[in-house]
Amino acid sequence: MVICKREVVFSRVRWALIIAVAVGWAMATPAMAVKLVMSCGTGDFATEVCLEATQQWEEQTGHTVEHHIGTYLTSLNLGMFQQLLAAQSTDLDILQIDVIWPGMLHHHLLDLRPYLPPDELGAFLPALIANNTAPDGSVVALPQFTDVGMLYYRKDLLEQYGHAPPSTWDELERVATDILNRHPDPLLEGFLWQGKPYEGLTCNALEWIASQGGGSILDSQGRVTVNNPQAIAALERATRWIGTITPYWVLHAVEEDTRRAFHRGHAIFMRNWPYVWHLIQTDESPVQGKVGIMPLPKAEGVRGSHVGALGGWSLAVNRYSKHPQESVDLIRHLTSYSSQVWRIQEASLLPTRIQAYQDEAFVSYPFYQQVAPILHHAIARPSLQSGFKYNRVSKKFWNAVSLVLQGQQSAAASLQALETELNQILEAPSIAH
Ligand code: GLC
Repeated sequence: MVICKREVVFSRVRWALIIAVAVGWAMATPAMAVKLVMSCGTGDFATEVCLEATQQWEEQTGHTVEHHIGTYLTSLNLGMFQQLLAAQSTDLDILQIDVIWPGMLHHHLLDLRPYLPPDELGAFLPALIANNTAPDGSVVALPQFTDVGMLYYRKDLLEQYGHAPPSTWDELERVATDILNRHPDPLLEGFLWQGKPYEGLTCNALEWIASQGGGSILDSQGRVTVNNPQAIAALERATRWIGTITPYWVLHAVEEDTRRAFHRGHAIFMRNWPYVWHLIQTDESPVQGKVGIMPLPKAEGVRGSHVGALGGWSLAVNRYSKHPQESVDLIRHLTSYSSQVWRIQEASLLPTRIQAYQDEAFVSYPFYQQVAPILHHAIARPSLQSGFKYNRVSKKFWNAVSLVLQGQQSAAASLQALETELNQILEAPSIAH
C-alpha cells in the first residue's frame, strides 16, 4: 500500500491534536483526582489565609483538600500529631509544623529531597532549611512563613502624653504607668503579653531573660544555663508587672486574647507576632493608623539587648501518607514565591524565600520596612540542642515561669529547681518515639 505524503502529514496533525486535547483534559481533570487531608492554620484568621491559598491549588489541579483546623495552643496540636504519627496513621497527609517541632517529629515525616527539583531548597533562607533537616540529612518540611516576637504600641497615646517609644523595660514601665494614671479610660491596660502556661509563655519568658543577658535556657552545646542572676532578675521584673501595668487575666492569655483587647483599643503596649499587623490595619479596626511596631525592649546595662523569639511554620508530609507526590505538590504551591508575596500582603506573614527579601516591591513595602530591623533581633528557642526532648524542656520551663508569675514560688527557687529537672531530662537515655 502506498501512503501519500499528504496522508502522513494529516495523520501527524491529527495525532498531535488528539494528544494535545488529551493532555489538556488530563491537566484540567487529573486521571486520579485525590483528596488530601491537611492541618491548616491554628483557627480564625490563620485558617482563613490557609484555606484561600489551598483553594487556588484545588482549582488548578482538580484535587481536593479537606482541612483539619488546629487550635491556638501549639502544644495541643503537637500532642495530637505525635499520637497520630506514632500510630502510623494515614489520616493526615500534610502537617503544618511549628519551627520547634522538626526535632520531635522528623522520624515520621517524608524526606522531601527526592520529590523536589534540585534547586528548590537553595531558594529558602538557609537557616530555616537547616532547622528542617534531620540528623540523617533528610529535609522534612518546607518553610511557609517566619515569625518574630515584637512590641506593638499605641503611637497616638504616646504622642498625646509626650512619650517616645520605649527602648528599655524600665522605660516601658514608666510610660505605661504614666499613661494609665493620666488617661481617663478605665478599661485601658498597660502591657499585654501571653502568660498562660504553654509554648507562648516560653517565647515571652525567653525574651525577658535573653534581653537581660540571661541566655536561652540551654547554651549552644545543650548545657542548662537558665539558673543565673539575669534570668532571676528578668522573672522578678515580669512578676512586678502583674497587677500594675499588666492585668491578672494575662496569666491565662494566649496570642488572640491579647490581640483582641489591644485591637479594641484597650491597651498601650502588647507583645505579639506579625500576623496582628494586618488585622489592626483594616478599615473596621478601632486602632487603624494608631499603632507602631518596634523591637521588644531590652534591660538597662551592658548585657541587655533587644531580642524577639523566632517563630514560624513549615509544611511537612506524613511519611505514611498514601499520596506523597500530590502532597509535596501542594506544599510546594503553598510555599511558592507568589504564595509568599500574596501572604505578606494579605496577612502580614513574613516570607521564607531569599528572593522575597531581595524583591524591590517587597523590600519597599511599608510593613517590611518596619519589621526588618526586628527580624535581625530574632533568637531561637533551644529546639535544635534538645531535639525530640524539646517539648519536655519547654514544658518544664513554662511551668517554672508560671509558678513565679502566680506568686507561688520565688524566681530563684523556681529556676534552681528547673535546672535540676532539665538536667535530669537531658541526661536520661534518648528514646525517640
Ligand atoms: C507562633 C509562632 C510559633 C510559636 C507559637 C507560640 O505561632 O510562630 O513558633 O511556637 O506562636 O504560641
